[in-house]
Formats: sequence, C-alpha cells, structure tokens
Amino acid sequence: MIVVSGIQPTGKPHLGNYLGAIRNYVKLQDEAVAQDGTCLIFLADLHAISLPHDPKELYDSTLEMVATLVACGLDPNKTVLFNQAQVPAHAELQWLLNGTARMGWLNRMTQWKDKAGKNREGQSVALFSYPVLQAADVLLYQATHVPVGEDQKQHLELARDIAQKFNNDFASEEAPVFTLPDPYIPETAARIMSLRDGTKKMSKSDPSDMSRISLTDDADTMAQKVKKAKTDPEPLPSEVEGLAERPEALNLVTIYAALAETSAEAVLTEHGGAGFGQFKPALAELMVSVLSPIRDRFVDLKDDREQLDAILARGAAQARELGTPTLDAAYKALGLVRG
Ligand code: TRP
Repeated sequence: MIVVSGIQPTGKPHLGNYLGAIRNYVKLQDEAVAQDGTCLIFLADLHAISLPHDPKELYDSTLEMVATLVACGLDPNKTVLFNQAQVPAHAELQWLLNGTARMGWLNRMTQWKDKAGKNREGQSVALFSYPVLQAADVLLYQATHVPVGEDQKQHLELARDIAQKFNNDFASEEAPVFTLPDPYIPETAARIMSLRDGTKKMSKSDPSDMSRISLTDDADTMAQKVKKAKTDPEPLPSEVEGLAERPEALNLVTIYAALAETSAEAVLTEHGGAGFGQFKPALAELMVSVLSPIRDRFVDLKDDREQLDAILARGAAQARELGTPTLDAAYKALGLVRG
C-alpha cells in the first residue's frame, strides 16, 4: 500500500478541508503503517505557481499548512511529509511525462476549462500542464492509493492514461516503469457546503468569512458562525428524505454526522423534530469539542519555524530517496543518459 496525496498550500484550511480530505489522510496513514506500506503527503507548492501568487507568502503558507496537518494528526514519524520544491524529481518527471501526455487529453480537463474560463490564451503553460505534474507526483512513488475529492478524479484518470501509454511505448509488459494509480474516494468523505449557501462548496475563496469554519477559529467564533448559519424555518425531519430541497439543513446535519463520525440517519433519529434553535447549539458544542484540540496544537506549532522547517527537510530527504528508482527508470526507458 503506497498512499500519495498533495494539498495546495494556499489559503487558511477550513472545516471542509478537514472533514473532506485531511481526516482521511490520517486514517490512511494509520492503515499504511499497519500494513508496512508507505504514506506520502506533500504540499503542492510547485502547483501553486500555475496561478498568480505572492512569492513572499508562499513558504509561510506552506509552513502554516504543515502545522495544520500535524495538528490534525498527521505524524511525521509515520508519514513522509514534505513540499514538492525540495524534491526536484517531481519537476523532472513532469518534463519526462510531457513527452507522453497529449494536448487533447489536457484540453478535456474540466479544471483547466473552469480555471481558464474564456481567457485560455492568457493562461500560464503551468496551468495547462498542471495535471501532468500531478501525474508525476503520484507515479514517482508507484502510488497505489491516492486520496482525493471527486473534483480530482479526472486528473487521476489522466495519470493512469499517461502511465499506461508510457509503459506501452517505452517499457516491456514484464517490467512496466509505472504502477497505475487508483483514486481513493472514501464514501465517508463529507462534502461540506458554505454556511451561507447550502448549494455552494465551503471554500477559502468565498468573500464571506461567515461562510466557513476556519480550523484556527476560536470556540466563540465557531459558535457564532454556527448560530448565524443560514437555515429554513422547519424543524429537522426524522428521515434523510426529508432533507431533499433543504440544502442548508442537509449541510448542518452532514457536518454534525461527519464530526460525530456517524450517519445522517443516526443524527436524525436523535434530533428529528428539533428546531434549529435547539440543534445549532448542539452542533456548536460538538464542533468545539472536536476542533479545539486541533486548534490548540496548531497554535503551539505554527510559530515554531525551526521545527516546521525540520519536518519538511526530513520528509524531503525521505521522498528524494523513495523517488530515485522510478525517476532513474523513466530516464533510462526514454534513452536519456545522465553521466
Ligand atoms: N490538484 C490537487 C488539488 O487541487 C492537489 C494535488 C497536487 C494532488 N498533486 C496531487 C492530489 C497528487 C493528489 C495527488 O486538490
């Protein structure tokens, strides 16, 4: 079992990131350790330059994300935790894979279409070839499990296509260079929506801070945001079907279920019939009890630059070693000679 995933270092991590992605990393880290496998989680700082960014902030936000991941339970003694920029093999392998990836494949990527919008000609080449770097990220380590959200499934399928074509074109069937990676989308990965609009994903780019719970919010702020969250006037139903057409109610129940690690059904069995005046304080209390310890660990760690630098340096050294055999094999398969 080789688990590999990346997370962009931009923006303040929020509840949606925790329940949708980070908590899964922690579970997979523990599974990988139990099976004698490897878990690699990295900060995708090379990806971050595909859109306009502030160089002065990039490393600080990388460290902030490292502190968050560790506070959430990723253990640098169990997980290889690093940033791409310290492992040049990611950029090298991307270039090698650029020879295999097809323009037509990249043109079909919905994330490219969404991010480029009407102005494709004005985008960076990095934004276009972003999925090739992502393929390099996972193929470099022969990943078997790649925990991602639904929105990244298409990029993973592209990574499989690239691996398959490379193996076909440049390797023998008995000795493929790359393992075909599988996306790992756990059924329990919660899709958390905005607290102001139950039809939009909770997002760091929403202009309203009230729309999201930041992992660094203190208990009072969290409680305030839950109290002010948009709802409808009806009490909670006792069956999940009763949440159809009620996106805000569904979202609060989903958040409750995810935090309690139970199902929406179970939450409604307990709270069906309650109005939001009753349900919201219960939700706020649960949220504070789950997130406060994370916040406390984050606050302790976030300014300990030395420790954070050291975590990344050690992770990068491990990653460089783990990636070497595959990078060497890729150069060799292409007939490229290095010294
Ligand atoms: N593109 C991913 C995202 O935006 C981040 C990412 C970069 C990633 N490289 C990866 C995810 C490799 C999984 C595997 O969420």
